[in-house]
Amino acid sequence: MRKVVIAGNWKMYKTQSEAKIFFSEFSTHLKDTASQAAIADQQVLICVPYTNLSLLQTLAPTVSHPNFNVGAQNVHWAENGAFTGEISAPMLIEMAIKYAIIGHSERRQFFGETDETVNKRLKAAQAHGLTPILCVGESKQQRDQGETESWIFAQLAQDLVDIDQNNLIIAYEPIWAIGTGDTCASSEANRVVGLIRSKLSNPNMTIQYGGSVKSDNIDEIMTQPEIDGVLVGGASLDPASFARIVNYRKG
Ligand code: PGA
Repeated sequence: MRKVVIAGNWKMYKTQSEAKIFFSEFSTHLKDTASQAAIADQQVLICVPYTNLSLLQTLAPTVSHPNFNVGAQNVHWAENGAFTGEISAPMLIEMAIKYAIIGHSERRQFFGETDETVNKRLKAAQAHGLTPILCVGESKQQRDQGETESWIFAQLAQDLVDIDQNNLIIAYEPIWAIGTGDTCASSEANRVVGLIRSKLSNPNMTIQYGGSVKSDNIDEIMTQPEIDGVLVGGASLDPASFARIVNYRKG
């Protein structure tokens, strides 16, 4: 059975004191929004800035959800070395971090990451026992030019070379839907996620949708048969919104 994974991506938001406030309020909201989802089968995680990882690992057990984890937003391919500003898999593993986003479009767009470096990061993460969340998705221009499928297939072909598909999550994130409020229609997201699945050797991989997921569209997104979860940016910063997303209503 495919696992549901609801993930937050805090990007470069929240100091430690702001993160503490979020955590103190998140559990209350989780209890307030009655869940109709099968909680035992659902993973919840929030990928936070590195400065928050240690603090939030100590607070994670206080969150009232049985499968809650804190994750990272990237991983370098080397174990250590002269790579200013980067973080390695052993550094995360020592803190018992299990998940890391890799290849987010903001990393590709603003920090020069390529499919080649994304592939190296994925390999290193898996070699150390992390479960990566690989992000793929097309720009507005690519969509308008009818290149969505070919672009995503090319990303997958390069990113997944020698990658263990049994320890991987993929997030379909159309770039034009990220942070814009312009959500991809859920049926279209479902179609693209289905196409991604058709290219995988593991058809049971968890594939998420990401891009302007909010508390008021989560229920519809999660009714889509190919979509196994969401990667949430802006709405994961607010404890009430993210709790409602975790406790999405089925059907
Ligand atoms: P958004 O971001 O939910 O703010 O659109 C999603 C993401 O970048 O992962």
